[in-house]
Amino acid sequence: MNKTTAAITAVGAYVPKFVLTNKLLETMVETTDEWITTRTGIKERRILKKEEGEGTSYLGIKAAENLIEKSGIDPAEIDMVILASATPDMPVAATASYIAAEIGAVNAFSYDLQAACSSFLYGMSTASSYIESGRYKKILLIGADKMSSIVDYTDRTTCIIFGDGAGAVLFEPNDEGLGVQDEYLRTDGGGRQFLKIDAGGSLLPASEETVKNKQHYVFQDGKSVFKFAVSNMADVSVLMMERNNLTYDDVNWLVPHQANMRIINATANRMGIDENKVMVNIDRYGNTTSATLPLLLHDYEDKLKKGDDLIFAAFGGGFTWGAIYLKWAYN
Ligand code: UT7
Repeated sequence: MNKTTAAITAVGAYVPKFVLTNKLLETMVETTDEWITTRTGIKERRILKKEEGEGTSYLGIKAAENLIEKSGIDPAEIDMVILASATPDMPVAATASYIAAEIGAVNAFSYDLQAACSSFLYGMSTASSYIESGRYKKILLIGADKMSSIVDYTDRTTCIIFGDGAGAVLFEPNDEGLGVQDEYLRTDGGGRQFLKIDAGGSLLPASEETVKNKQHYVFQDGKSVFKFAVSNMADVSVLMMERNNLTYDDVNWLVPHQANMRIINATANRMGIDENKVMVNIDRYGNTTSATLPLLLHDYEDKLKKGDDLIFAAFGGGFTWGAIYLKWAYN
């Protein structure tokens, strides 16, 4: 009997309406469109304004509804909802549970998963393992972040990078051997000093002082993170190819976390694959943290063919990083 694999069988996404362009950022902080474009590849990003909706749950619900509408699945059949996010609605209770209730996933259990920019990649590992176990048949994995809720819009080193967005995928069992083939996930806690939010957790609870010191905003030592991201994302992607005997010709798509165009290019170069096999939308959305990978799948869904070999790769705060090899399951 064939081993059950976990395949992605549907994709949905949502980005908020407001477009924050580099030109507009020029009026907010000391920066230029030219600097942002050459250093990051970002031209614009989406921001969730209060008038449109509030909280990461708003984005997650919209992405999930888009998936449900496109695929025609009955939400009551969903066994589990995982929200990958670094910006949950609130520390307690789980945002995933609220999303599940709002979309009518009345028979699902749900929880949030946080691994910074690797949240969705780790979520793919979690969701696929549950499917492979045989215990669950339909798992909705959502990657959503309202990064604008933790960004200081007077700090030019971070406010030019991040954007808001959400994507969702459905994992189901597959008996043709399609879906997740292999994974290699890593962490290094020594990296937490380089990318973090200092306050608001148990280590440094919110106080007048922490607000005054701007310690509830995301801090990033960009140069250090860049150095680790470039080498580690490329290393795991190449390892994924070697371990599965994939040549650069075999790989149909690289699905890389969208943090910086230079990191994406370095990864693709090390893998030896052409740029037309690299999924990119950083120019339009910036770094949406947990949403980058499913937003790419949504944007490139039309081009994907059953049996295509995809390598997913991410690097983020923690440090957290890794790669997943997946065979696409539908046309
Ligand atoms: O997704 C999670 C993981 N995150 C990442 O992978 C992000 C990794 N890091 C990066 O992508 C890049 O480090 C950044 C895009 C954040 C920064 O680019 P960089 O090429 O590493 O710039 P830098 O920090 O070395 O700064 C170079 C110069 C500095 O000026 P001096 O010291 O050379 O005079 C900065 O002050 O650019 C200055 N600078 C800016 N100038 C115009 C920093 N931010 C800006 C800005 N506009 N927005």
